[in-house]
Amino acid sequence: MESTTNIRPLQTQDLPAYFRLRTALWPDSVACFEREVSEILNRGHLASFVAQREEELVGFVEVSLRAYAEGCDSSPVGYLEGWYVAPAYRGVGIGRRLVEAAEDWARAKGCTEMASDTELNNIQSQQAHISLDYQEVERIVCFRKSL
Ligand SMILES: CC(C)(COP(=O)(O)OP(=O)(O)OC[C@H]1O[C@@H](n2cnc3c(N)ncnc32)[C@H](O)[C@@H]1OP(=O)(O)O)[C@@H](O)C(=O)NCCC(=O)NCCS
Repeated sequence: MESTTNIRPLQTQDLPAYFRLRTALWPDSVACFEREVSEILNRGHLASFVAQREEELVGFVEVSLRAYAEGCDSSPVGYLEGWYVAPAYRGVGIGRRLVEAAEDWARAKGCTEMASDTELNNIQSQQAHISLDYQEVERIVCFRKSL
């Protein structure tokens, strides 16, 4: 098991490094960064765990409580909102340990199920989810409309 990396909750002093990691996963999230990170740090329905290797942050997972998730029959459900490991550190078990931290958080909040999603063309993420015992339950098409 990968053990030189420390998995721990996000802290205020992580924010510059966290901004870089989060932007690597979600380039469009820059404008929402302050608001969303403030929700995480206030420890409500959203949490983030980071992977620290020596002085460097190399990955994170964001987990929320959702009232409903596709394929689930309990509520609330722990939901993997974002999951990222920097390319140089992939494939050694850091992603697995991040998800385990997210699952422990959800379990402590009373959840009995976890859920997640990924894009149809993100085959690597789909395979990684399956390796972590997540079963595919549905494929959906998303829409939007300006009001
Ligand atoms: C998905 C991601 C977070 C996995 O992180 P990681 O540190 O490489 O994951 P791990 O090394 O802990 O691997 C976890 C399991 O997934 C499997 N896995 C990971 N990457 C895989 C890949 N590219 N292809 C097939 N299986 C893969 C591993 O074999 C492992 O299973 P095992 O323990 O049974 O061997 C990382 O690849 C990533 O950041 N990808 C880009 C962002 C992304 O797509 N995020 C998910 C959608 S939000």
